[in-house]
Amino acid sequence: MNDNSKDELIALDDLTLSPVDTPAAEAAPIAPRAPRVLAIANQKGGVGKTTTAINLGTALAAIGETVLIVDLDPQGNASTGLGIDRRSRQTSTYDVLTGEAPLRHAVIGTAVPRLHIAPSTLDLSGLELEIGQDRDRAFRLRNALDALNTATDLPFSYVLVDCPPSLNLITVNAMAAANAILVPLQCEFFALEGLSQLMKTVESVRTTLNPDLTIHGIVLTMYDSRNNLSNQVVADVRQHMGRKVYDTVIPRNVRVSEAPSYGKPVLVYDLKCVGSEAYLRLATEIIQRERELKAG
Ligand SMILES: Nc1ncnc2c1ncn2[C@@H]1O[C@H](COP(=O)(O)OP(=O)(O)OP(=O)(O)O)[C@@H](O)[C@H]1O
Ligand SMILES: [Mg+2]
Repeated sequence: MNDNSKDELIALDDLTLSPVDTPAAEAAPIAPRAPRVLAIANQKGGVGKTTTAINLGTALAAIGETVLIVDLDPQGNASTGLGIDRRSRQTSTYDVLTGEAPLRHAVIGTAVPRLHIAPSTLDLSGLELEIGQDRDRAFRLRNALDALNTATDLPFSYVLVDCPPSLNLITVNAMAAANAILVPLQCEFFALEGLSQLMKTVESVRTTLNPDLTIHGIVLTMYDSRNNLSNQVVADVRQHMGRKVYDTVIPRNVRVSEAPSYGKPVLVYDLKCVGSEAYLRLATEIIQRERELKAG
C-alpha cells in the first residue's frame, strides 16, 4: 500500500467515526460496552465458516463497527486469509486458552481499519490434551473476553469466533462465550444433514454452560442461481428453519475464493463483486436483527 492510499483509509476512518465527536458524547464518560459475541459454527467442513468470519467482519468494520475475529481453528485459515503470516503470530489463541497470555496480547490489527484478529497456530490442536482435565476448561474463552472488556483501549462492538469443523472443546469454548451462534450452511444436497447434531450441542451448552445462548441465524452460502439444486436447498432450509434463515444468501463467486490467497478479504480484493455486495447486505441484516433483539 502506498502512502496516499493509507491516508485515504485513515480519512475514511475519521469520517465514519465523526458522530462520536458530538458535545454530548464528549461530556459523557465512555463506559466499556460489552461486545456482541457471535460464534460462527458448523461441524461440517468447508461450508464457509472462515469466509464468513473474514468477510462479515470486514463488512461490519466498513460500516463503522469495531470488530475482533478470534481464530479458534488450528488450521489458521482466518489468520492467513487476513494476511497474518506465521511469524506475526507471536501470541496465539492457544496461549490465551491455556492461560499463558491475556487475549489483549494476541490481538493484532489488520489492513482493514477497525478490524482486528487474534490469530491461531497449529498448537491449538493440542488444546484438549493441555486443559481437558481442568474444571474451567469450557470457560477459557469467556474468561479471556471478560478480561478484555475491562480494557477500555479496545472497545470492540462485535467479536466473531471462527470455529473448527468439529464439536470439540474448542467449539464448546466458543459456544460458552457467545451471545449467539451464526451457522453457515452450504447450498448443497446434504445441507441440513448434521444441523440437528449442531442444534443438540447448542441445546446442551444452553442447559449446562450458557443459558442465554441463542441461534442468531443461518446463512446460506455458495448459492448458484443456475443450479436447480441450489434453489431447492434454499426452499427446503427456509421451510424447515423459517425466520432463522437470513434473507441474504451468499452466492458462489470466484472472487470470494481467490481473495484469501492474496491475504485479503473479498471486500478489499474486489469491492464491487457480487460476493462483497452480499457480505455487506448480511452485515446490515445482522445489525438490524440486533436492533430488533434489543427492542425486545
Ligand atoms: N461464496 C463463495 N464462493 C466461492 N467460494 C467460496 C465461497 N465461500 C467459500 N468458498 C470457498 O470454499 C472453501 C471452504 O470455505 P471456508 O474455508 O470458508 O469453509 P470452512 O467452513 O471455514 O471450512 P473448514 O471447515 O475447513 O474450516 C474455500 O476454498 C473458500 O474459498
Ligand atoms: Mg474454516
